[in-house]
Amino acid sequence: TSVLVLNGPNLGRLGVREPEVYGSASYPDLVAAGKTWGAELGLDVEVRQSDDESELVGWLHEAVDAGAHVVLNPAAFTHYSYALRDAAAQVTTAGLLLVEVHLSNPAARESFRHLSVIGAIATGTIAGFGFDSYRLALSAIATRLA
Ligand code: DQA
Repeated sequence: TSVLVLNGPNLGRLGVREPEVYGSASYPDLVAAGKTWGAELGLDVEVRQSDDESELVGWLHEAVDAGAHVVLNPAAFTHYSYALRDAAAQVTTAGLLLVEVHLSNPAARESFRHLSVIGAIATGTIAGFGFDSYRLALSAIATRLA
């Protein structure tokens, strides 16, 4: 079972970027953790990051064509990208799982972060647990498929 873990803009700056909000661990640490959790859960996990909306849209198309499930942290695109939403909707309408994840809890932050345009087309959302949000998302996928 393949799972693409896709990360949006500025998440390559983890560890450097607002560590009081996003933690001190780096993006390479997230990539390594994803591999470890994938091995533990029996999932073939690949972690990617892009600051580019069109690249993220292309990766969602790739997931649909490859039959891969998706863990998506859309970062700031969460709040306004209908292009990402429409691409993510193709994943769930294809019968694949898509879990929206956030490191922080956007509902507890500035009001512009309260709206997710992705949430309504996701299988489910996990937010507020730091790196553990990703582990929980992978675990939910493994459980749902078992
Ligand atoms: C985020 C929350 C978003 O509001 C923000 O724009 C991010 C990261 C999170 O993981 O907590 O870049 O998606």
